[in-house]
Amino acid sequence: MSKDTSVLLDEKRLFKPDYHLVEEAHIKNWEAELEKGKDIEKYWEEKAHQFEWFKKWDKVLDESKKPFYQWFVNGKINLCYNAVDRWINTDKRNQVAILYTNERGEEIKLTYYELYREVNKMASALKNLGIKKGDTVSMYLPMCPELLISMLGCTRIGALHSVVYSGLSVGGLVERINDSKAKVLLTADGTYRRGKIIDLKKIADEALLQCPTIETVVLVRHTGNPIKISELSGREILYTTLLEGENELCPVEEMDAEDPLFILYTSGSTGKPKGVLHTTGGYMVGVATTLQNVFDIHNGDLWWCTGDIGWITGHSYLIYGPLLLGTTTLVYEGAPDYPDPGAWWKIVEKYGVTKLYTAPTAIRHLMRYGNKYPQLYDLSSLKILGSVGEPINPEAWMWFYKNVGKEKIPIMDTWWQTETGMHMIAPLPVSPLKPGSPTRALPGIEMDVVDEKGQRVPPGKGGYLVIKKPWPAMLRTLYKEEERYEDTYWKQIPGGVYMAGDMARIDEDGYIWIQGRSDDVLKIAGHRIGTSEVESAFVSHPLVVEAAVIGKSDPIKGQVIKSFLILKEGHKLNTALIEDLQKHVRYEMGPVAVLGEMVQVNKLPKTRSGKIMRRILRAQEEGKDLGDTSTLED
Ligand code: WT7
Repeated sequence: MSKDTSVLLDEKRLFKPDYHLVEEAHIKNWEAELEKGKDIEKYWEEKAHQFEWFKKWDKVLDESKKPFYQWFVNGKINLCYNAVDRWINTDKRNQVAILYTNERGEEIKLTYYELYREVNKMASALKNLGIKKGDTVSMYLPMCPELLISMLGCTRIGALHSVVYSGLSVGGLVERINDSKAKVLLTADGTYRRGKIIDLKKIADEALLQCPTIETVVLVRHTGNPIKISELSGREILYTTLLEGENELCPVEEMDAEDPLFILYTSGSTGKPKGVLHTTGGYMVGVATTLQNVFDIHNGDLWWCTGDIGWITGHSYLIYGPLLLGTTTLVYEGAPDYPDPGAWWKIVEKYGVTKLYTAPTAIRHLMRYGNKYPQLYDLSSLKILGSVGEPINPEAWMWFYKNVGKEKIPIMDTWWQTETGMHMIAPLPVSPLKPGSPTRALPGIEMDVVDEKGQRVPPGKGGYLVIKKPWPAMLRTLYKEEERYEDTYWKQIPGGVYMAGDMARIDEDGYIWIQGRSDDVLKIAGHRIGTSEVESAFVSHPLVVEAAVIGKSDPIKGQVIKSFLILKEGHKLNTALIEDLQKHVRYEMGPVAVLGEMVQVNKLPKTRSGKIMRRILRAQEEGKDLGDTSTLED
């Protein structure tokens, strides 16, 4: 456990829901819904009927090839059809589907009908570029409408998208494009960040020198930043040119429920990033149902998820969940405290946001400025708040509850992962809350905390967080790495359960308390970063021989990177080298890798087989007992 969560052990406060919420809620009785959810297949089957299927399934769940589970076997469906087309023959036709705004106060609104037309054009254009069902399209774009349109365009024709977070850099982009063998890359002239423009095209150009599978580069003119047409300009086309005169109708592809939907890369404790593969039917059912259950979506809601589209939060709850429920989703490009620390609250007031879903790191960041800023704006439109990405410390919970929720509205702390695709542990709006706990596994989900033998641990005792039954939006495999899929998630703990990679404990009321990762994965500002990726970035510097990194607690970011470096003979870690290393790692990894202290060492603690024991470095750092050192080489 890398984070000090001891404070959580004393958290006893209980917050009961306001009666208004209970009156309004679709689900009024938490216990009854949990009870209903115990019959997993029946529960999810009922939820699947909310969509229009070309053909319904023969079987809800096929466990015969576990852990390669299949949901809604032989069902035929299309996501884009259900998220867009389905609404245009209803009174939602002229309702705003996507409300884009940015730190400059600009805005673009697309109704469901307008979105329908744009998505059709994009889908036709992709087809004309030679993209077929099963092909992959990479996207390295800002939070802009074109990104949502392109993702939906892919799902319309059965192509997989692989979105790369715009905060990643050359190294990460190259690896992801090449692993997914993408044929098309969409990128842009830049993205806004605190008054500056980050030139994405420049990064993409450098990456593309190493990406042989890309045939076409589609360029979105977003900021108006001047762009250099690269030497390979022959394969570049402007987004607007591509869509010009494009057919406004593109038939939807009939997809099998188990046809791949998208790949999204995430970090593990070792090796290269993992290409998490999600499929169509189960993902749709899981995501729409959890958004409905946890955030109680009603007509007239304005939903704002502040997470980036480049991560799973954006995929599931910024685009797909809200559109599948026919609500309006707000897309914001920019930082929470720019042009001033009231930026977010101003947006809530201006548009009348009703549900706000954000991350602990952002809350802690805004908390630093005190309660002055939320007081400057009318936040009374808000009905439910949400949190995701890392454990929310009770201080941040209370600040959010008091200053943003005015002690009236609940905070849905949602635990889930890129791999789970959907919320797994979360309250419903009617659940009594304890600050710092995501409460219990959702209806239709079975989870537990066990020891390494798979035995349940007694209440209050820490153990491994596991998922005991398959769930509809689960990852189906790691892209082209089936063995790694089985090994990483299903073979770590006996009993055929999914090991999440988190430590947790369950209290006497059955509430789950997440205690942080059980592996070497870092959580920096909610972003998941693999230690080995940072170490490789260090070692690719000519003066670094070996590197080990660990997460160090940080009051705002949760963790930052502390690095232990062995340098080439005769070199010293001076200010100039530190600066150079910072630049180098940032170039390779992008701003997501937040470097803290660096120290020069002569030796790293290793097992006899040569694996770095980061656990020892962490214990040393926290002044704790070194634990079992019998495998230590020296
Ligand atoms: C890891 C997954 C799920 C979208 C964003 C992160 C941590 C996530 C919580 C929470 C405590 C949380 C876990 C998990 N995590 N939500 N509510 N409380 N920890 O997705 O990048 O795949 O990371 O984030 O450690 O394993 P991800």
